[in-house]
Amino acid sequence: MSAGEADVRLDKVRKVFGTVVAVDDVTLDIARGTIFSLLGPSGCGKTTTLRLIAGFEQPSAGEVYIRGKRVTAIAPYRRDFSMVFQSYALFPHLNVAENVAFGLRMRRVPRGARGTAVAEALDLVKLGALAERYPRQLSGGQQQRVALARAMVIKPAVLLLDEPLGALDEEMQVELRQLQQRLGITAVFVTHDQEEALTLSDRVAVMRNGIIEQVGAPREIYDRPVNEFVAGFLGASNFLDGTVISREAGIAQVETACGRVSVVTDSATVGAKVRLAVRPERVRMNAPQSEGVSARIRDIVYRGSVTHYYMNSAGGPLLCYRQNAAAGDWSVGDDVRCAWNVESGVLVAPESG
Ligand SMILES: Nc1ncnc2c1ncn2[C@@H]1O[C@H](COP(=O)(O)OP(=O)(O)OP(=O)(O)O)[C@@H](O)[C@H]1O
Ligand SMILES: [Mg+2]
Repeated sequence: MSAGEADVRLDKVRKVFGTVVAVDDVTLDIARGTIFSLLGPSGCGKTTTLRLIAGFEQPSAGEVYIRGKRVTAIAPYRRDFSMVFQSYALFPHLNVAENVAFGLRMRRVPRGARGTAVAEALDLVKLGALAERYPRQLSGGQQQRVALARAMVIKPAVLLLDEPLGALDEEMQVELRQLQQRLGITAVFVTHDQEEALTLSDRVAVMRNGIIEQVGAPREIYDRPVNEFVAGFLGASNFLDGTVISREAGIAQVETACGRVSVVTDSATVGAKVRLAVRPERVRMNAPQSEGVSARIRDIVYRGSVTHYYMNSAGGPLLCYRQNAAAGDWSVGDDVRCAWNVESGVLVAPESG
């Protein structure tokens, strides 16, 4: 993608605070009208990346572009964005409508147009009825929606959101997504909540220590994680170590301590030591003896819609999630045979050290 098509582009951006490398050589393209999430553990550089886009921080190296224009040296107030901060502080002395109108007043939008825009923005977040209330009279989720309306009302090219959705339920998240698509807003969304990132995003960047480990669509990073960190950060994963004993037509046979499994790969070579990751919901527990790996059930956790089976195998612990629509008759201590479809396993780069 060229810089012209991307609403936000970071080119080899680096940010150093003293001895801390907060953002390390990050290159990203964020396409117009999409939600892009920065996902990663505390301290990995998410807020710093957002502040670099906003211009609240200057990069130590690299360039920042908004709508194809280089803005690296341009002040925040001359960049076309609005930001919802990690603490979504509203002005306590202004009511809901006045809070939302604030950015329009700053831009000297005339009173009539301002009123219409504020009413529209409040409608979008379903707060029209609460326009006269003060922030202290609102729930946490309602305050967040005011903060969103306040950021969206100025129709910025780019909406920057720093963990703004803590109190929003899934339904509200889905509504926010529909709203963003209807308005064609480009949003950069920071979160350390993987489910939130998967629910809301077109693309997700998984960060660690200032570095982007993987960028992709939610399904891609969940199903095809490139390394153990990404696999483990996005939900639970089983890991089995083994040796490639053959490879034919893009499918490798891997010998593990608990059995032989097949995995789709176009790179593994015969004799290579590999680590295989497989999601717990992909594991089937009643495979025939000729298939899969053997394990013994150690713990069973009933969770309402699903049951989690914790198992031991010669290759290490294994976890299986089963929908409770299918009744499971297993007990702790049972020996089971676990298998999964060949495309459900993925070879990942192991953590070194
Ligand atoms: N102004 C600053 N001066 C010095 N170090 C900073 C500064 N801002 C951030 N850092 C450091 O840079 C790293 C990245 O911080 P950042 O705020 O970007 O993390 P984050 O991913 O947003 O974390 P969280 O999920 O906790 O909000 C951290 O190690 C942090 O301590
Ligand atoms: Mg942060």
